[in-house]
Amino acid sequence: MSAPSRLVVTGAAGRPGRNAVRLLHIDTSIKATGWLSRELSAAAVERLKREAPDIVVHYRDLAAHPLGDLTGRIFAAHAQGADIRDLDQAELSDLAESGKVLDEFLTSEVIVMGVAFYNFTVPSSLKAWIDRICVAGKTFSYGASGVVGLARGKRVIVLLARGGFYGEGSPNARHEHAETYLRSVFSVLGIDNLEVIVAEGVDVSPELRATALETAMGSIETLAA
Ligand SMILES: Cc1cc2nc3c(=O)[nH]c(=O)nc-3n(C[C@H](O)[C@H](O)[C@H](O)COP(=O)(O)O)c2cc1C
Repeated sequence: MSAPSRLVVTGAAGRPGRNAVRLLHIDTSIKATGWLSRELSAAAVERLKREAPDIVVHYRDLAAHPLGDLTGRIFAAHAQGADIRDLDQAELSDLAESGKVLDEFLTSEVIVMGVAFYNFTVPSSLKAWIDRICVAGKTFSYGASGVVGLARGKRVIVLLARGGFYGEGSPNARHEHAETYLRSVFSVLGIDNLEVIVAEGVDVSPELRATALETAMGSIETLAA
């Protein structure tokens, strides 16, 4: 897999301050144009930067630079410390990328995710990313009374764009497996207070798209610094 990450934003003076907050910005939309989740995630990052210009943003585009599906051999090496001498060159580079992904997550205080709603859930590229950050002993552990999250204290903001309507109480609510899934995953990692801003019904009509976008942008403006 190709190396996807790059440092995009530095502090106001062009150089991050020593105690600058680190923000990981993730996008997932596969669309070439007309993507909404990217627009929303960019607006959320801008909103946070306005309040904290010194913030350091690291950008990862999972659609442009997808991680591969997690294989048993990479899982064994990445999450279980298995011997890597058997791995071929492609697997070694996948392993190195997996380490980078985990490190980016661990070292970021804030994670902003633009999430497209595809086939009732998150894009597969995001699932592949999640498979790299859920690592026993790093982001969660098995305690006597169940799983204990080790990533407590991080702020995770999700900007979710859904073509149809899946909100609570709607006939399609039972088919919503993106927000519900992300809340489950991050709660296992110790992050229970996911901030989720949804723009939905965006493919139903241009009018509903415009309303959903406006409402979501309004919610972004109210994000705490
Ligand atoms: C491959 C694909 C699958 C989709 N599946 C669904 C779906 O299951 N339910 C839905 O309401 N909208 C679905 N949509 C519409 C998207 O949720 C909608 O276009 C949204 O804006 C996607 O975010 P994006 O604009 O950032 O890509 C799908 C779109 C694509 C391209």
